[in-house]
Amino acid sequence: MADQVKRPVKITETILRDAHQSLIATRMPTELMLPIVEKMDQVGYHSVECWGGATFDSCLRFLKEDPWERLRKLRAGFKNSKLQMLFRGQNILGYNHYADDVVEYFVQKSIANGIDIIRIFDCLNDLRNLETAVKATKKEQGHAQIALSYTLGDAYTLEYWEQTARRIEEMGADSICIKDMAGLLVPYEATKLVSALKAGSNLPIQLHTHYTSGVASMTYLKAVEAGCDIIDCAMSPLALGTSQPATEVMVETFRGTPYDSGLDQNLLAEIADYFRPYREECLANGLLNPKVLGVNIKTLMYQVPGGMLSNLVSQLKEAHAEDKYEAVLEEVPRVRKDFGEPPLVTPSSQIVGTQAVLNVLQGERYKMVTKESKKILSGEFGQTIKPFNKEVQKKCIGDVEPITCRPADLIPPQLDKFREECKEWIQQDEDVLSYALFPQVATEFFKYRQAQQTKVDVAAADTANKAYPV
Ligand code: CO
Repeated sequence: MADQVKRPVKITETILRDAHQSLIATRMPTELMLPIVEKMDQVGYHSVECWGGATFDSCLRFLKEDPWERLRKLRAGFKNSKLQMLFRGQNILGYNHYADDVVEYFVQKSIANGIDIIRIFDCLNDLRNLETAVKATKKEQGHAQIALSYTLGDAYTLEYWEQTARRIEEMGADSICIKDMAGLLVPYEATKLVSALKAGSNLPIQLHTHYTSGVASMTYLKAVEAGCDIIDCAMSPLALGTSQPATEVMVETFRGTPYDSGLDQNLLAEIADYFRPYREECLANGLLNPKVLGVNIKTLMYQVPGGMLSNLVSQLKEAHAEDKYEAVLEEVPRVRKDFGEPPLVTPSSQIVGTQAVLNVLQGERYKMVTKESKKILSGEFGQTIKPFNKEVQKKCIGDVEPITCRPADLIPPQLDKFREECKEWIQQDEDVLSYALFPQVATEFFKYRQAQQTKVDVAAADTANKAYPV
């Protein structure tokens, strides 16, 4: 090995975002993060993923925190490390398509408040839905990473991945990520996939997977051998299960090889020691369900994400039709085919899953059709890799003319309207973006924030009155 060229693997640490999103419903509060930031900053991670995804919603909705304030605090603590966020293309962090002015402003403010790397993805892998975010990131001098939602299916050949990598490089992105949200990528397929992406572009390749099916660390090993530059890992207290492979394990795996990350295991151990009591606390209070820590091989058998399987179970339970589970699992790939074989990731996973449940429960396919299914079949989410099933499309949307352009081209600017709607609550520029993404939740938060401030004012006035009696 001594004569081999050194190619140290780089590591993105996910404990402050995806790890706690995947294991404990995104509930880690900022105050738990801050005491360990200085130590994490010394590790030499490629980046620390700490924002975006579900953290934004969770801050406002459950933790009663301002997500922008969290970002600024993390930025102040991480003096050397690059901070990374997850961004859902034209959906930003929400579930609808937004106008370009909202996307651009969100990118601008994310970078202004401290984000270095923006990982941008689309549930259909329709690259047109990523264009605005990529351009905006480049304009703000950020690093624009395009993430491809990994999935299996007839259309997803190695040629497809290779060509897509080429198009991503042409779009001006800085790196490519394979986003394997379901843990479907098995080790030897990773070799082929990474080689295909490398053949298609000269960009750095990053791999993001989940341990759900139990193969993830082996997949990283094969991927890195095949040329993958960066892997996503989580510190061991919040690793494995539906989260990422453990940082310490991957560091140890590559030690003494040409891929040696060079990270200090002692320093990592101190960080793990910090988070371990939190893991115990989450196990004790039920936030961390031991069920999500096991191996779920069904995700590989049915090629659907673990989260989607549990959603199907609960939908069937509600309808008192748990005996239809197998029938629904067989219907999922058929609906997916009818809908142009999209990857199954938020929101396409929910749309396909719900429609499959309806098809089975109604005893007739597409007798009842959800609003979202109609939207997909009308092209409102963008273009799928394969054409829709024409008959199904006709049955679901009738004579409505489907759109073929980039969906956001049909959305007029929205920022002014949002500003007007929430003007009474605005205390900082960023508030309009919180409102744009989650109008009700953000308004509730703004009210809470104001009430807290009033309390503080009253307390301060009380203290002042006592100190200086009039
Ligand atoms: Co993930």
